[in-house]
Amino acid sequence: MTITAPEAPAAATAPDVPFEVIPLSGNLGAEIPGLDLRTLDDDTIAAVRATWLHYKVVFFPGQDLTPQDHLAFARRFGEPTEGHPVIPGLPDQPEVFQIDYTQARELAAAYGDVSDVSRGLHWHTDVTFVRRPPLGSILRAVEVPRAGGDTLFSNQEAAFDDLSPALQEFLSTLTAVHDGQDQFKVILDLIGEGTWEGKTFTKLEPVEHPVVRTHPETGKRSLFVNPGFTSRIKELKRTESDALLAYLFQHSVRPEFTVRYHWQPGTIAFWDNRATQHAVVGDYGDHRRVIQRVTLRGDEPR
Ligand SMILES: [Fe+2]
Repeated sequence: MTITAPEAPAAATAPDVPFEVIPLSGNLGAEIPGLDLRTLDDDTIAAVRATWLHYKVVFFPGQDLTPQDHLAFARRFGEPTEGHPVIPGLPDQPEVFQIDYTQARELAAAYGDVSDVSRGLHWHTDVTFVRRPPLGSILRAVEVPRAGGDTLFSNQEAAFDDLSPALQEFLSTLTAVHDGQDQFKVILDLIGEGTWEGKTFTKLEPVEHPVVRTHPETGKRSLFVNPGFTSRIKELKRTESDALLAYLFQHSVRPEFTVRYHWQPGTIAFWDNRATQHAVVGDYGDHRRVIQRVTLRGDEPR
């Protein structure tokens, strides 16, 4: 008798594509080796998009892209946004946002405060504190520590599917407030103004998004709250909101919904910001970790 192991949920309905795809965990994440992202034809781009929608985060190791190549690859999937609403992008490539925690700590030290600048980053979904958060982010590992500095991703559709139907339906009636002030007010005050979708602003106004959103391309529902930016649930009392958010924050990143990735220089990652959260592990001491990110314009969550 042959015993066959059951397929992991993410692998079960994976699209059939003309390149190798290596699933990295049961619920999300896959590595796609062997493609040169500078030379893909339209059919291959469509297959990459289908693979990305299925696995929610895909990694392309062994790439050698310049910031211009990075941006050109991003443009195959959508319209790049400003690098970040508050923090300026690279001087000659404003759509490319560089994240260097060493530099951030040095800058903070220059202003007399390093207490809040970590080497890592707690769970969040990128830029949910604007009305139209990015649909996805494409990241290029520029300089990485030999060990540490991994990124964790969590599948928010799997987290939603795991809840009881009664809680799913209740959550689907709720609205969450997302606020970027905690993280970015100080920087915005220093810089004076930020820009998003071509509009400048001097103050970050909180925005509202549904607690459960429906993916505009796949129709699947996912949890859409994150501890980085979600401050409260509008319809509930403060104590109820705090308790429910605390539960959702820990539920949404349970180990079985996640994948952890160790970077090599040159690796490109592309994640679906509408159905995931991610976190950076700050365990690399004084080693340097530099990444560059391009985000793609998204729609209003519904
Ligand atoms: Fe992020």
